[in-house]
Amino acid sequence: MASSLTAAGTQPSAPSFSGLRRTCPKLDTAAVPFSHRVNSSIRLVSSSHRSPRGVVAMAGSGKFFVGGNWKCNGTKDSIAKLVSDLNTATLEPDVDVVVSPPYVYIDQVKSSLTDRIEISGQNSWVSKGGAFTGEISVEQLKDIGCKWVILGHSERRHVIGENDEFIGKKAAYALSEGLGVIACIGEKLEEREAGKTFDVCFHQLKAFADAVPSWDRVVVAYEPVWAIGTGKVASPQQAQEVHVAVRDWLKKNVSEEVASKTRIIYGGSVNGGNCAELAKEEDIDGFLVGGASLKGPEFATIVNSVTSKKVAA
Ligand code: PGA
Repeated sequence: MASSLTAAGTQPSAPSFSGLRRTCPKLDTAAVPFSHRVNSSIRLVSSSHRSPRGVVAMAGSGKFFVGGNWKCNGTKDSIAKLVSDLNTATLEPDVDVVVSPPYVYIDQVKSSLTDRIEISGQNSWVSKGGAFTGEISVEQLKDIGCKWVILGHSERRHVIGENDEFIGKKAAYALSEGLGVIACIGEKLEEREAGKTFDVCFHQLKAFADAVPSWDRVVVAYEPVWAIGTGKVASPQQAQEVHVAVRDWLKKNVSEEVASKTRIIYGGSVNGGNCAELAKEEDIDGFLVGGASLKGPEFATIVNSVTSKKVAA
């Protein structure tokens, strides 16, 4: 997948950020009492593991990944303008870039958007299509040119009422049919305030882990519900603390290899102004962007925040 996303004819001359490793050992969150690790402000052990050389490293070995979730927005005209802005934007080569238009515009986007950017569905049915009024099947998403699907988004969980098990089954089916899955997890404000951030995220993660046959085509999106569409972005430290915990969970419950390879991206009020600081965090492997992905130049800025992973000194 990675190579298929490289701009046609573009030599990978830019430095590769994937695989940069931290130069000092990660603090083991398991060594910290759980009651200390889980609290509403979640300011635990982070930041102290920044490289002494000023190199901003990626803890994971996966390529930076930025997705634009257009949600239920747009018209034929506004989408034509957005596509045209994306087609002319300069995007760093070492980033997987995906956009997720509303279903009814996917065909329009597929036929007009540069191949540099892949397309995702915003949801998919749990099994083969058929008599399921109002649903979109994985087969149809593939037929129309999608390579990805977003599953478990908080709006699907909390507005529409999808549960963990159902979402896990959807992920398993989409993967079995060859789609990549952007697997969303994240806590509500009251859950964070009750000190349940890790519990909630791990529970949602486990539902994916119990269902999926392989993590090869899974990107985990940590999206705290209180940060989605609110303009209240998580601080880089708050995001990093959950990302490192998610990576450790994958290490302990799936495998070290999966923990290293799986991209863990952050979503929730990411914009052109805050992306660079967030991208510097070593366990943040990219972003899932809502509102700011509706503006081509700003989305390009977010894609290009991969450069913050470079030597900062
Ligand atoms: P937002 O949405 O960037 O508008 O907060 C993010 C998302 O829901 O994926």
